[in-house]
Amino acid sequence: MPYEFILIQREEPIAVVQINRPKQLNALNSRVMLEVTSALEELDADAAIRCLIVTGNERAFGAGADIKDMASATPVEMLEKNWIAYWDRIKKVSKPVIAAVSGYAFGGGCELAMTCDLIVASESAQFAQPEINLGVIPGAGGTQRLTRAIGKSKAMEMVLTGRAMSAREAEARGLVARVVPTESYLDEAKNLAREIASKAPIAVRLAKESVNKAFESSLADGLDYERKLFYFLFGTDDAHEGMNAFVEKRKAEWKGK
Ligand code: CAA
Repeated sequence: MPYEFILIQREEPIAVVQINRPKQLNALNSRVMLEVTSALEELDADAAIRCLIVTGNERAFGAGADIKDMASATPVEMLEKNWIAYWDRIKKVSKPVIAAVSGYAFGGGCELAMTCDLIVASESAQFAQPEINLGVIPGAGGTQRLTRAIGKSKAMEMVLTGRAMSAREAEARGLVARVVPTESYLDEAKNLAREIASKAPIAVRLAKESVNKAFESSLADGLDYERKLFYFLFGTDDAHEGMNAFVEKRKAEWKGK
């Protein structure tokens, strides 16, 4: 499909999906979310790509759902449009997705970053769920994912006041994996993506699945799930290659089988 609001950079084995609606600070309307989701799904199905990045620009990762589109919406219109389902589709992407965040990650933008598997933030990134200032609450996972990421009290503070959290604070609280200089944040995210892409592909896929399971299960169920995936990996050529390469003191060559 022709894309209007995103740019795609393929640098095999990684790819970058860049939200490109700069005048509106990358406000996320249905079209933007359709394009981001479709591109991620296409790249997920592409065997040459092993790790994905979602980014915006230096000033804004995404300033949230497009308020102008929602200002006169009724509950039935919101329900029928069901555009928040795009966040659920992104969560189902099987390859690792890194959010490379600079500037505003507000509302739906913060929720999009949190739906990705991990966040690399520039020093100037800011995270907020400011929906309370619009008379609503976060609708694309903010109250749930933020609470799991930073704990109840801090999440309450952010959701009830709408205040923004700096990149450093987000890193200290575990929302963000790394804070890097603003001028090189995308390069740093790409380096991380390349590092992940250099690992055994099936193990990467199942590692992502297993960590994500921790958010959706009891500890006992999560441990059980992890153990099954661990045993399963012993049926792959790559597991034997990885261990033999260690024993033989050579670099492993992954086949993704
Ligand atoms: N929707 C629509 N347009 C937006 C927008 C948004 N979320 N955020 C910014 N814009 C537009 C502005 O209207 C403005 O457009 P015009 O030039 O045509 O007036 C342009 O982007 C630049 O914005 P500002 O002039 O406001 O830039 P600023 O640097 O002074 O402020 C900001 C930046 C603090 C991010 C401010 O724009 C802002 O508060 N934006 C709204 C953030 C927000 O409330 N997001 C939550 C949305 S609701 C949601 O996301 C629900 C959900 O859970 C899915």
